[in-house]
Amino acid sequence: MISQAETRAMKKALKLAAYGRGRTFPNPMVGAVILDRDGNHAGDGFHRKCGAPHAEVIAIASAGDASSGGTMVVTLEPCCHHGRTGPCTDEIIRAGISRIVIATTDPDPRMSGRGIKQLESAGIEVETGLLSGKTRALNRVYRHYLETSRSWVTLKIALSLDGRTAAADGSSRWISCDKSRRRVQRMRASVQAVLTGAGTVRADDPELTVRLNDAPSQRQPVRIVVSSTGDFGDSWNIFRSPGRVIIAVPEGVAARLTEYTGIPGVEVWEFPMNPGSQGINLTSLFERTAADGIGEILCEAGSDLSTRLLNDKLVDSVSIFTAPVILGGEGRPAFEQLGIGNIENAVRLENISSRRSGSDFLTEGCVVYRAD
Ligand SMILES: NC(=O)c1ccc[n+]([C@@H]2O[C@H](COP(=O)([O-])OP(=O)(O)OC[C@H]3O[C@@H](n4cnc5c(N)ncnc54)[C@H](OP(=O)(O)O)[C@@H]3O)[C@@H](O)[C@H]2O)c1
Repeated sequence: MISQAETRAMKKALKLAAYGRGRTFPNPMVGAVILDRDGNHAGDGFHRKCGAPHAEVIAIASAGDASSGGTMVVTLEPCCHHGRTGPCTDEIIRAGISRIVIATTDPDPRMSGRGIKQLESAGIEVETGLLSGKTRALNRVYRHYLETSRSWVTLKIALSLDGRTAAADGSSRWISCDKSRRRVQRMRASVQAVLTGAGTVRADDPELTVRLNDAPSQRQPVRIVVSSTGDFGDSWNIFRSPGRVIIAVPEGVAARLTEYTGIPGVEVWEFPMNPGSQGINLTSLFERTAADGIGEILCEAGSDLSTRLLNDKLVDSVSIFTAPVILGGEGRPAFEQLGIGNIENAVRLENISSRRSGSDFLTEGCVVYRAD
């Protein structure tokens, strides 16, 4: 039986876990709360960043002696293996915790219930499944990485009411309202990288940095630009603004990019060409970004890159702003050919949320791909 105090503690643990957003990858976000023998809050903690102590260890330290005989409420199954830090299960047993309430098991194959078994063998009462849906959603980037070894990609698009992303001449500033654009700044601040295509760089000369007035020392996301040619026209803003920039190009193109690689923070990644297409293999790109510590990427590109990503089943979620603007059939579409042909084959979303964003409407959801 789960008590009301434990449910409240799990809500707090979830909130704490979310403070680690964008910093824990490739680890999950985890929060933990300790209740003393009488069910009162005695301590808490969360995993701040990869390599830092785990939530359970911080919570035990903050609760002190009250851990003994108390209950730990934690968003994820405690680890039982030696990684960058020691096993949390050992700490929990040593602290004398008598009951533990866990939201979800850890999908990491080194864990997957082993931590729970160890705790049970030590005589600790274990309950699982409390608010598990919320924890699963919180750690979608971590789960996705364990399953695919790739970064999570969110495709963000600003659309006119008639589904266009730019006018006929390529101008798209600004389709969405001020409030939506501020929201996009916060989205950028919450991911580790922003991705675009050379077409958008040539058309808009964007910086793609975070410019939030209330966070002047904001850490900048890595900016990634893909190009098969290395031609960025006269656009320099993305390369000259502060932070790290990755130019992803086919093998052999780096040699043409010396004027960019001389700029501090700019680096070039080369990839083999994708057989039968004009570009690099985007799956390899996202495997390499994940290996580089980039958990989540926000893609802000035009129809060319957006279409390729969707066709390659590499878009994991979308954030689509629809603005009260009409651009007509001559405007640029959000996507090119997706080979759908039939409503049955339409790309659909799940876990959808829809809300107002100033004068726009924001729809978010995870993409559901049909099995081939
Ligand atoms: N409303 C919105 O939300 C929004 C957002 C962004 C952009 N836009 C608008 O979109 C328009 C630009 O659209 P676009 O389709 O030309 O731009 P894009 O999709 O941003 O960039 C396309 C370019 O990306 C490169 N690329 C794509 N896939 C690649 C791969 N697999 N490997 C290597 N390179 C790859 C190619 O560059 P190379 O040509 O160098 O090979 C390609 O030409 C602009 O008018 C812009 O204002 C609108």
